[in-house]
Amino acid sequence: MPIVARDFPPIGVGTFGSDRYTPAEVGAAVASALRLGYRLVDCAAVYGNEAEVGAALEATVAELGLARDEYRVMTKVWNDAHAPADAVASVHRSLRDLRLDSLDVVFVHWPFPNHHAAGVTVHSRDPHAKPYDHAAFMALWAALEGMVDEGRVAALGVSNVSIAKLRLILRDARVAPRFLELELHPTLQQGELVQFAVDHDIQPVGYSPLGSPSRPERDRTPDDLVDLEAPEIVAIAEARGLHPAQVCLKWAVERGQIPIPFSVKPGQQAANLEALEGPPLTPRERDALAAVERNNRLIKGQVFLWPSAESWVDLWDVDGVIAGQGEAVVE
Ligand SMILES: NC(=O)c1ccc[n+]([C@@H]2O[C@H](COP(=O)([O-])OP(=O)(O)OC[C@H]3O[C@@H](n4cnc5c(N)ncnc54)[C@H](OP(=O)(O)O)[C@@H]3O)[C@@H](O)[C@H]2O)c1
Repeated sequence: MPIVARDFPPIGVGTFGSDRYTPAEVGAAVASALRLGYRLVDCAAVYGNEAEVGAALEATVAELGLARDEYRVMTKVWNDAHAPADAVASVHRSLRDLRLDSLDVVFVHWPFPNHHAAGVTVHSRDPHAKPYDHAAFMALWAALEGMVDEGRVAALGVSNVSIAKLRLILRDARVAPRFLELELHPTLQQGELVQFAVDHDIQPVGYSPLGSPSRPERDRTPDDLVDLEAPEIVAIAEARGLHPAQVCLKWAVERGQIPIPFSVKPGQQAANLEALEGPPLTPRERDALAAVERNNRLIKGQVFLWPSAESWVDLWDVDGVIAGQGEAVVE
């Protein structure tokens, strides 16, 4: 699959500290990543570290003498800022904290206004949580379209949406989403959604590209599979003298998605960048990796469920119908 956003780097760095790494550590990681050659940083208001990331960005960009069009910064509006005025305020706060005049992409982090406090357990629920409300989502989207008109945001993106929701958004948006951030790693390939995005000129950005081995406890269940230990991935890594993480990233980039691995460790950051070098995967390796697919969703979103929802599956519209709304859209 070809990359859609040709003006974007093929790989970026994540900045979610997973309740494990401090804002200062994540800021230092961004500085280190830029020095190693990364040119794309994935931020979010809810990660609670944009001030530290912004300070690191400003200092390191100056140190490296980079012009603004030589690096890309994306951020996200969190679920507690879906009211249009709150969304605009959130983007302005991100601009200020990241010390930028403009953002390359602003995502709506989740399609629901449901949220949770930092550090909660998997059983935590927002008592005011609601299913997807398309009219409310489009009011939020219109506010972000206004920021594109003003030149403060270059492109808009959606995250954690299904094909059903994306169809509605594409039908009603004045400024179409140009990016889709979604969980992508060899055991969760989301082939149909990725193809749908590419068919609509939307660039897939793959989060948790290594299977998020250090994710918070609330995002772990006993049945979760570990990509870095999948026998097929380990075998390819051993045959090529690579780390399994590098095989995951090679697979991602060759598939046309932009992976955004996170690490505070310069050795890992360098290895992740080096994954793009060397001979491409062979057809046999590509087939072996295609067969690793297990629908192994790790970031299930349980904490965003509304009271009448039956399980986290309701968040993902697996039968093509938007849960709690009942509206199926056929193109
Ligand atoms: N849109 C969304 O809803 C959403 C959701 C989740 C994530 N994201 C974004 O995606 C980014 C990446 O996802 P993620 O942080 O969940 O997971 P990830 O990138 O798959 O995994 C990160 C972890 O993998 C380990 N690692 C990194 N490079 C390695 C290497 N070369 N060898 C061995 N281990 C390595 C590190 O573990 P140790 O620290 O233990 O060494 C690191 O903490 C986030 O930071 C965030 O920006 C977005």
